[in-house]
Amino acid sequence: MKALIASGGHGTRLRPLTHTRNKHLLPIANKPILFYAIEAAVEAGIKEIGIVHNAGNTEVQDYIGDGSRWNVKITYIPQLTPGGLAQVVQLAEDFIGKEKFVFYLGDNMLVGGIKRFIDEFEKSGCNCFLTLSKVKDPERFGVPEIQNGRIVRVEEKPKHPKTNYAVAGIYLYDYHIFEAVKAIKPSARGELEISDAHTYLIEKGFKVGYTEITGWWKDTGKPTDLLEANRLILDSFTQRNDGEVNQFSDIAGRVVIEAGAKIINSKIRGPVVIGKNCIIENSYIGPYTSVGDRTEIVGSEMEYSIVLRDCKILNVGIRIEGSILGNDVEIVQAQTRPRVHRFMIGDQSRIEVV
Ligand code: DAU
Repeated sequence: MKALIASGGHGTRLRPLTHTRNKHLLPIANKPILFYAIEAAVEAGIKEIGIVHNAGNTEVQDYIGDGSRWNVKITYIPQLTPGGLAQVVQLAEDFIGKEKFVFYLGDNMLVGGIKRFIDEFEKSGCNCFLTLSKVKDPERFGVPEIQNGRIVRVEEKPKHPKTNYAVAGIYLYDYHIFEAVKAIKPSARGELEISDAHTYLIEKGFKVGYTEITGWWKDTGKPTDLLEANRLILDSFTQRNDGEVNQFSDIAGRVVIEAGAKIINSKIRGPVVIGKNCIIENSYIGPYTSVGDRTEIVGSEMEYSIVLRDCKILNVGIRIEGSILGNDVEIVQAQTRPRVHRFMIGDQSRIEVV
């Protein structure tokens, strides 16, 4: 069993955060999203992983490396332009060969790992095995049509979904998927849709099975999904303090404080992670907040937020909530009169003021 992980695409719905980085490297609970996919494969005993990435951009390779830190072999497969998930599979044919494989969308996050799905797939004798999750907004996903307990068709982002299931981005295949991804034609949006490849297999009489994801699963396509994923991952943390907390600070709940971080005269209510060498002073950090390395939060209040590395949040008079701040962001109190809001904001940013 091999694993194929998709890490290409444009990440348009996560701009401006994705103007300067691949979306799969955005941190959830201070760890890049892509690590969760790799670790799921490693945990399931997989030793060879192929990662499809945008050609001409080595960001993912540079960050992830050759896999030795997980004791696996990682092969990088470039994709010239994001032509759809079925194209991602096409590109991996040489890497996969005749082996069975799990295709994992690098922006999907799952609690509980993928070992169970692999075991069910192996037992089922299916050529293709899909994982389904009940969602409130099936029109955002590939949606199965199910009759008498069998999937008869998969529609990509249907206007009128036949079920309230999303096909999650964890698919199990044998080599017949390569016939399907080569036979289908681009959709109206110009992509080779993985849902069409699934429908092709069903129509040609291949065995397509499924299982339901009963735990938590998330496609981190939008900013609100990132915050929600951050909340759920932080919920699984256990308390750890490798930093320094002064006697006038009050830390409660599952709070992880990394080495070199200093908490001075502040209140922290977990689940929260504070990165290495951060300074939190005269501040309140509330539940479900991740603070990246070397960030300074002074005289400010924040909760349910993701802050990346090297930010400065200094004497902000109002609580920051439901926010995502990129690297090196500064939110500071105006020092000169008149005290006005003064913004220096890049393209496609969003600010809500009161
Ligand atoms: O998350 C599950 C959904 O993922 C499925 O229900 C849909 O059937 C499937 O089409 C897909 O829909 P999305 O609209 O979420 O796909 P997205 O374009 O966001 O791409 C998913 C991942 O694959 C993401 O990590 C980026 C990567 N990707 C995408 C394309 C189109 C590539 O590496 N190359 C590509 O060409």
